Amino acid sequence: MRALIRLLLWVSLRATTWFPAQQQSLSARHKPNIVFVLTDDQDTHLGSLDYMPHVQRHLLNSGTYYRSHYCTTSVCCPSRVTLWTGRLAHNTNVTDVNPPYGGYPKFISQGFNENYLPVWLREAGYNTYYVGKLFNVHTVDNYNSPFPNGFTSHEFLLDPYTYDYLNSTFQRNYEAPRSYEGEYVTDVLAQKAYTLLEEAAEAQKPFFLTVAPSAPHCNVFMNGTGLDEHPFFDFGAPIPAKRHQQLFDDANVPRTPSFNPEIPSGANWIKTLRRQNQTNVEYNDHFYRNRLRALQAVDEMVDGIFSRLEGLSLLDNTYVVYSSDNGYHIGQHRLQPGKSCGFEEDINVPLIIRGPSVRENVTTDIVTTHTDLAPTFFRLLGIPLRSDFDGEPIPVTREQIESPYLKRQEHVTVEYWGFAAGEGIYDFDLSAYNNTYKAIRIKGAGYNLYYSVWCNNEHELYDLDTDPHQMTNLFSENEKVSSSHHILGIGIPKVVPRLDSLLLVLKSCKGKVCVSPWKALHPNGAVNCLKDALNEVYDHFYEVEQSTRVVFDECVRGYLLDAEGPQFDFDRDGQGNNLIRDGLLWHEWV
Ligand SMILES: *[C@@H]1O[C@H](CO)[C@@H](O)[C@H](O)[C@H]1NC(C)=O
Ligand SMILES: *[C@@H]1O[C@H](CO)[C@@H](O)[C@H](O)[C@H]1NC(C)=O
Ligand SMILES: *[C@@H]1O[C@H](CO)[C@@H](O)[C@H](O)[C@H]1NC(C)=O
Ligand SMILES: *[C@@H]1O[C@H](CO)[C@@H](O)[C@H](O)[C@H]1NC(C)=O
Ligand SMILES: *[C@@H]1O[C@H](CO)[C@@H](O)[C@H](O)[C@H]1NC(C)=O
Ligand SMILES: *[C@@H]1O[C@H](CO)[C@@H](O)[C@H](O)[C@H]1NC(C)=O
Repeated sequence: MRALIRLLLWVSLRATTWFPAQQQSLSARHKPNIVFVLTDDQDTHLGSLDYMPHVQRHLLNSGTYYRSHYCTTSVCCPSRVTLWTGRLAHNTNVTDVNPPYGGYPKFISQGFNENYLPVWLREAGYNTYYVGKLFNVHTVDNYNSPFPNGFTSHEFLLDPYTYDYLNSTFQRNYEAPRSYEGEYVTDVLAQKAYTLLEEAAEAQKPFFLTVAPSAPHCNVFMNGTGLDEHPFFDFGAPIPAKRHQQLFDDANVPRTPSFNPEIPSGANWIKTLRRQNQTNVEYNDHFYRNRLRALQAVDEMVDGIFSRLEGLSLLDNTYVVYSSDNGYHIGQHRLQPGKSCGFEEDINVPLIIRGPSVRENVTTDIVTTHTDLAPTFFRLLGIPLRSDFDGEPIPVTREQIESPYLKRQEHVTVEYWGFAAGEGIYDFDLSAYNNTYKAIRIKGAGYNLYYSVWCNNEHELYDLDTDPHQMTNLFSENEKVSSSHHILGIGIPKVVPRLDSLLLVLKSCKGKVCVSPWKALHPNGAVNCLKDALNEVYDHFYEVEQSTRVVFDECVRGYLLDAEGPQFDFDRDGQGNNLIRDGLLWHEWV
């Protein structure tokens, strides 16, 4: 509550002090800039950052590493729309990579081309630049119908050439697409990034530059796009630049306990996967090495960006943020290379922030998510927060991170609809079409859990303190939980109803409720975290009163309410009052 009042106070102060100034032309001296490097499918768990010396020197050693940073939907397009809107996928309804449920056409039809980060930044007086992949199914055919709004200048990578490392197509401003056949995509992209940076510096206005390479995504030969009736996608390992082809010959996917395990693990279709044979494992190691090699050109580009920021005297006044749309698995739980799952490999992604008064060379475990990035950019740039943000600004200064009043969220809302693709050369099971699930990742003092409900109503619960590789589902085959396992001394059968009620709130939350979901369950504010909720005085509340459970009616590929089961009733507080207005809890309004 105290933090909320401080926030409201801060927002209203900002609104009165900044807005008049923003009407006039902004002084580049005082307003900071942001450079956002957004890679595609980069893991934290397979060690990719260890192979990037420039990222280590310029970012990890000189900034803050958010080790517990998560995406909320582990696939490109939904995750990127969440990044650019600050909303969870259930609030964007861009839930897939292809139409009808996702891709650039769905982004447009949902009205976000008038209502997303670059547009808001322009309104606040910033110049905005973008180079690289924006969304899936943003193609050589639909790039101009309409053009993406909100950019001072841009160079977009377009489908069907987005993941063709040696035959990319870029499209600049209002020009026609141009092919770079035979050139190495990340090197082309790096030159464009440098040019945009120089353009931004010349304009003498504060700016936001996004650099979004396709690496280390797998190489895709696409015959047609998701717009065509029968697109043909040929997946293969990423292709490194010639100068990096020989590197890391000895590197293999880390052989953790979840790597191609002898006993099947996971739930639903994952549990049915065959163990990979030697040929398959060797190919996947090759795939892994090529990811590391493909990241070398990204690493060099990061160095190039820093030397230019320094040369242009912009470094002291620029935040550099490094992240990825989603994570990646190779071989864990017998999975072929890919993403789309709720395992740590897929949802825990890199986030490094460096800039004015950001702590240097530190790692923090505070829980942050992709819904927090748009609010974070707003706060760094001094723009009043929007009430439709489903996240909150990430603390960056020592004071913010250590503030005794800081009550960060401890949960991540994880959601997914549709299919999971295997991206190597080996087959994947078509049952992956039922890859629809909802989950919570929750990390607090004394607990570290992942709880999920699948569209076939199978459940998963992992205790990552005792089982960091998520090999032991605490739900058994017959959907019973083990009573011998304890969290904070409390048996799992008492923990699960709390987690389920929390998930019921999160699966349809809006705005502040997504940040403070316990308040929807306990409007009096007495419960603010799982530990509070575990108090035995709430046993009856969670076991009897909150009898509505997260249940799916069927497996479907999109966010179709008919399939989503019962919903949390936000419209009640016991006295007939409407608790929620525009995502704010009723009692926070008054
Ligand atoms: C970063 O911190 C580590 C210890 O946490 C220290 O060993 C290292 O020298 C520091 N690096 C820099 C560049 O300050
Ligand atoms: C490269 O892309 C262009 C279109 O941008 C296409 O015409 C050409 O056939 C492609 N080349 C190869 C080898 O796929
Ligand atoms: C690509 O598409 C064309 C035209 O639709 C078709 O003739 C050709 O066989 C396709 N190639 C592959 C490799 O699928
Ligand atoms: C190994 O597994 C792959 C994928 O299932 C299969 O295509 C291949 O034939 C297998 N190779 C051997 C030697 O068993
Ligand atoms: C996917 O789920 C649907 C509906 O719940 C079911 O009818 C279908 O058999 C499932 N498909 C597979 C491949 O498991
Ligand atoms: C999401 O979009 C799909 C496809 O356009 C639509 O059928 C569905 O009703 C939408 N879901 C919600 C909750 O609005």
